[in-house]
Amino acid sequence: MFFSGIEPAPADPILGLTEAFRKDPRPSKVNLGVGVFMDEKGATPVLECIRRAERVLWETEKTKGYTPIHGPAEYGAAVADLVFGAGFHGLAAGSVAVAQTPGGTGALRIGAEFLRAFRPGGAIWMPDPTWDNHKNVFGAAGCSVRAYPYYDPATHGVDVEAMCAALEKIPAGDVVLLHVCCHNPTGADLDAAGWKRVADLAAKAGWFPFFDFAYQGFGDGLQEDRAGLLAVLQKVPEALVASSFSKNMGLYGERVGALMMVAESAKAANAALSQVKRIIRVLYSNPPKHGAALARAVLEDAELRGLWLQELGAMRQRIAGNRQRLVDGLARRDTGMDFSFIVRQKGMFSFSGLSDVQVDFLREQKAVYMVKGGRINVAGLMAESLEYVCDSITEGLKL
Ligand code: LMR
Repeated sequence: MFFSGIEPAPADPILGLTEAFRKDPRPSKVNLGVGVFMDEKGATPVLECIRRAERVLWETEKTKGYTPIHGPAEYGAAVADLVFGAGFHGLAAGSVAVAQTPGGTGALRIGAEFLRAFRPGGAIWMPDPTWDNHKNVFGAAGCSVRAYPYYDPATHGVDVEAMCAALEKIPAGDVVLLHVCCHNPTGADLDAAGWKRVADLAAKAGWFPFFDFAYQGFGDGLQEDRAGLLAVLQKVPEALVASSFSKNMGLYGERVGALMMVAESAKAANAALSQVKRIIRVLYSNPPKHGAALARAVLEDAELRGLWLQELGAMRQRIAGNRQRLVDGLARRDTGMDFSFIVRQKGMFSFSGLSDVQVDFLREQKAVYMVKGGRINVAGLMAESLEYVCDSITEGLKL
C-alpha cells in the first residue's frame, strides 16, 4: 500500500514541542518553548485593539470576495510605513513594493522562491544559530544554505568580529539573512556600531540583504527596533524584508505578514512585485483576508493604533520584568553561573546556556519545556512557576 510504506517524519523541534506540552498530564508543566507571548495567567490573549477592530469589521465588511494576489494596496502601504517609517525615501519614490503573505514564514518562503528563480546559484547565508525553520524554508525552495558565525557563548552576545570577518568574504551573488531585532533563538542583537559595520560590509562586498523582521516592537520599541534595517538601507539600494504581525499584534493563527521588495526605482519594484505575484498565484492564489484587514484597521485608525501601542508596550514590559525576575531567581540559588546576560538580551528569547542533555532532563523529569539548544521563551514564565523553574534549572545545571 502507498501510505503504509511512508515513514513518519520527526516532530517539528518547536511546534512539535507544543503538541507534546499539551499532552503532558503533569500539573507542574511549564511551556517555555514556542515563541508566543503569554500573560500572567498563561494565556495568549486577543489584544483589545484587535477585538475592537474585529467588531467594526463584522459590522462593516461587505464581501468575502478575493483580495488581489498581493493583498490590498492599503495594507501594503500601512505595513511599509510601519516597517520603514513614513520618512523612508523609498516610500515617496514608490520604490518599495509589498506583498501580503501568510505570516512571516510565508514571506520568507516566497522570498526564497523569488531568489531561487532570479538569483540562481547564489547561496543564502544565515546566522549560526538561527531560527530552526529558516534552513528548512530556504532549503525547500531549492536555495543553498550556508552559515556565518553570530553568537558568542562566552559573552552571550554577538561575536561581531567573527561575523564581520565572514560577511566580508561572502561573494556579491549571494544573499545574507539578517534578523533585524530580537534575534531568534539567542536574544542577542547587534548594537548601532555593529549595524554600521554590517551596512558598510554590505555596500563593499555587494551581497544582497534579506531581513527577517518578525519581532518589531518586542525589543525597544517600533522605531528603535528598525534602526539596523535603516542603517543598512542607507548604504545599499536593494533588499528583501519579511515582516509579521504574529507577535506584535498577537495575530499568530491569522497568519498575517508581508514580503517587501526595496528596489532602486519604482519600475524595478513593480517588476519584482509582478514576479512575486506569479509565485503566489501558483502556491495559494491569493492571501486570506481577515487578519490583514484587522492589522490594517489598527494601523489606520488613530484610536486603535494608540491602544495597540499601549498593549504592545505592556507586552514588552512584561517580558523585561520576566527577564529580571529570572535573573534574580537564579542569582538566589547556587547555580555556579552568572545569568545577568539574560536582561541584556532582547525580545522573547534567551539562549540560556543549557545543554541539550539539560534541556531533555528539564522536559522529561521536570515538565519544563524549552527548545533544544537551550532557548527559553521568557514570556512563558509566570509568578507561580518562577521558583519551580529556577529550582529545576539549578538541578539541571548539576548534571
Ligand atoms: C518560534 O520561533 O517559536 C516562533 O517563531 C514560532 C515558530 O513558528 O517557530
